[in-house]
Amino acid sequence: MLPMDHDTTSPPAPVAVVGAGTMGAGIAQVAAASGHEVILVDAAPGAADAALTRLRAILTRQVTKGRMTDAEAAGVVGRIEPAVLVDGLPEVGLVVEAVPEDLALKQRLLAGVAASQPPTTILATNTSSLDITAIAEALPDPERVLGLHFFNPPPLMRLVEVVHGEATAEAYLAHVAALMRAWGKTPVRCTSTPGFIVNRVARPFYGEGQRVVEEGIADPATVDWILREKGGFRMGPFELTDLIGQDVNYAVGASVWEQTGHDPRYAPTQFQRGLVESGRLGRKTGEGVFSYAAQPPAARPEPDLGLAERLVTGPVETDPLARTVAMLVNEAVDLVRREEASAADVDTAMRLGVNYPRGPIEWGRPIGFDVVAQQIAALDRAFPGGRYRPSPGLTDGSLDE
Ligand SMILES: NC(=O)c1ccc[n+]([C@@H]2O[C@H](COP(=O)([O-])OP(=O)(O)OC[C@H]3O[C@@H](n4cnc5c(N)ncnc54)[C@H](O)[C@@H]3O)[C@@H](O)[C@H]2O)c1
Repeated sequence: MLPMDHDTTSPPAPVAVVGAGTMGAGIAQVAAASGHEVILVDAAPGAADAALTRLRAILTRQVTKGRMTDAEAAGVVGRIEPAVLVDGLPEVGLVVEAVPEDLALKQRLLAGVAASQPPTTILATNTSSLDITAIAEALPDPERVLGLHFFNPPPLMRLVEVVHGEATAEAYLAHVAALMRAWGKTPVRCTSTPGFIVNRVARPFYGEGQRVVEEGIADPATVDWILREKGGFRMGPFELTDLIGQDVNYAVGASVWEQTGHDPRYAPTQFQRGLVESGRLGRKTGEGVFSYAAQPPAARPEPDLGLAERLVTGPVETDPLARTVAMLVNEAVDLVRREEASAADVDTAMRLGVNYPRGPIEWGRPIGFDVVAQQIAALDRAFPGGRYRPSPGLTDGSLDE
């Protein structure tokens, strides 16, 4: 059976977004801006109305700045209808749930929605870390359940990971990928692997920097400087995790580590655990790796530029950039080798989802995948324990053009 809205000549089918928090409100805005009638549901009384009030204020500012007309803003807001209960939802083409990250809650919610919607309605979850197969398990027709992983904030971030569980039917995946393009997004596809593409492949960006500091090779300010100035990353791993929140970043890493059966590749560092346990969570607490005290204003430690130059021209074991890039390439190649995502989608996901200057596969090509394999092997000799395992995909020729 084909999903509603399959016929591109018909008006867009209504969409229901369940959960009107950070993500749900943004997803509702994106759908409404693309012409869909949207029902925005939140169990907390007043939450969906409050989300709409916030959206009105955001769009009024857009109008003031000349980025949209009054009529366009009114159209977006006018197409969103706030609601309190999921029960009695009218028929829609797509449901996107963005309720808190709790497997039982999501299973229950989608099972309830499935019972009241026609079998053609696509049921999407915006989960960042739960297994799509497990979410779909509770449903009689798991083939219509898939992940639509938007990034924060949804109206600004182009990337959407379209995630398939074991039972998801291809027709639905193709349909939502086309729908995401119609919404101005760039969809990438992946299996329900822990962390999907972005949250998995990005792990070494944080982990290598933290290990370099733990090993006494360099201080955080110097590592950040190297990754930014020599690597082209917008931010170094320490300033970035201070911005994200050390607790949030730690939780994502720990979730991937748990879901991979404690694979040492994803083991959290004592360095970050210490920050979290001592409440030094970053900007939001005024103290993280760096201090953000306002009075007196905290000075950021200066990078040691002499040390930085020596490290980036030295062996891989002590070069924060070469280590990080080698591990990013290794992680990306491994994902592709396991057929969890295509090389092109991994590169797109890392460029758009976390603003990397280059996709890891395209980064690995000029270095040489065999060279990356040698670098990982050298790291394994220097730091044994299973973290540094060259992916067989680096040397089996599967990525040769
Ligand atoms: N915040 C992010 O940066 C981000 C990014 C990508 C994905 N996600 C994922 O999106 C989902 C939502 O995250 P968020 O940050 O928007 O959360 P949030 O806490 O801001 O919003 C969740 C909303 O769901 C509502 N809710 C709770 N139970 C409900 C129910 N049974 N029915 C209807 N509404 C209910 C809450 O009242 C709340 O308004 C999570 O799965 C999260 O992992 C979050």
